[in-house]
Amino acid sequence: MTMTSTRYQPTGNLPTPYAETPNFEPLLLRALKGETLERPPVWMMRQAGRYMPQYQAVRKRHTFLEICHTPEVAVEVTLQPLQQFGFDASIIFSDILIPLQAMGLELAFTDEKGPQFANPVRHVDDLKRLHGFDPMVDCDFLIKSLQMMRHELKDTGIALIGFAGAPWTLASYALEGCSWKTGRFSKQWLFEQPEALHQLLATITAMVIDYCDAQIQAGAQVIQLFDTWAGNVPTAYYEAFVQAYQAQVIDALKAKHPTVAVIIFVKHSRGLLPTMAKLNADCFSLDELTRLDEARNLFPAGTVLQGNLDSTALFLTDKAKLQALTEATIAQGGQSHYVFNLGHGVLPLTPVENVALVVDTIKNWHW
Ligand code: CP3
Repeated sequence: MTMTSTRYQPTGNLPTPYAETPNFEPLLLRALKGETLERPPVWMMRQAGRYMPQYQAVRKRHTFLEICHTPEVAVEVTLQPLQQFGFDASIIFSDILIPLQAMGLELAFTDEKGPQFANPVRHVDDLKRLHGFDPMVDCDFLIKSLQMMRHELKDTGIALIGFAGAPWTLASYALEGCSWKTGRFSKQWLFEQPEALHQLLATITAMVIDYCDAQIQAGAQVIQLFDTWAGNVPTAYYEAFVQAYQAQVIDALKAKHPTVAVIIFVKHSRGLLPTMAKLNADCFSLDELTRLDEARNLFPAGTVLQGNLDSTALFLTDKAKLQALTEATIAQGGQSHYVFNLGHGVLPLTPVENVALVVDTIKNWHW
């Protein structure tokens, strides 16, 4: 079935725009521009997913990869948390491993083991197996999902976020073949075959730039890069193997799309912040190990911070405590240059009423 952006009819099933959003300019975009706001915008990494009964119902009918590959279904699950909780931003439903699949790695997801590649990169010769691809053609499902989402979000004040894995995290997946356990293969290449690792990182970096560029052309208004495994790299190697490639992606995107904000999430970034501050990113997404108000002093003026309520706080049965932790996070974030998020993604089994409580707490906040 072909579905073009002009023929797509939005479901119209989203909350009404917020009064504080003149001309429907999304609150997230205003925060990323540095405007002083009455309350921060709120969205959550992994806001669509297994903790939601509606998502589980879709998963009974489709595998995870089928959802990613079918625009109508990807849009359905992308909309679910917006309809239920009224987030200020929408992150397109996909996965950071989708483009590695397009490069020739055979991807499977199982409930027990998570993502796995049948043919990981293990030898220098394996690099020849990785091929380039045209995101517009080979990831046309993602392009269509983004186009359809932009139609859905028209005039709602909800911003659309596209994303990609950062080069180090993607290279690690290609080498490990599965979720990081010891990082044995990635570190072997780091210590023993640095030139081959640079080659792999350069190939992936060029791909990530094209992939994000295509998402922007399809309607993404913000790009978030996920460097989930960056915090595991020995300090002596960090700048050359992790940050240099993040910088290439950010600089290329900013050169091509100066007005599109780039957010970077580095997991376990405590201790890396002074180094990270040299990046040209518009916004840094911090995990719960760092205090936002202390981190702010380490970044240049005008930098936007995002974060960082502990994802596990959403399991609290003491609602007043959860509300207090949410408010403390906002207070540390500040009245401008701040976007509310979690320190990492929403966890499976998170009680939905606690997600609602956190979103409502933020929406009721007034500086
Ligand atoms: O944030 C969102 O709501 C958008 C969708 C999104 C998913 N994955 C959906 C997903 C995003 C942005 C990601 C990013 C991602 N994927 C990262 C980086 C951020 C992070 O959380 O660290 C990583 C490392 C992956 C790789 C990945 N995908 C793993 C390790 C797993 C299995 C473990 C897990 O947490 O589920 C996935 C599967 C996955 N990606 C699911 C979802 C909703 C669960 C799939 C299912 O079983 O239905």
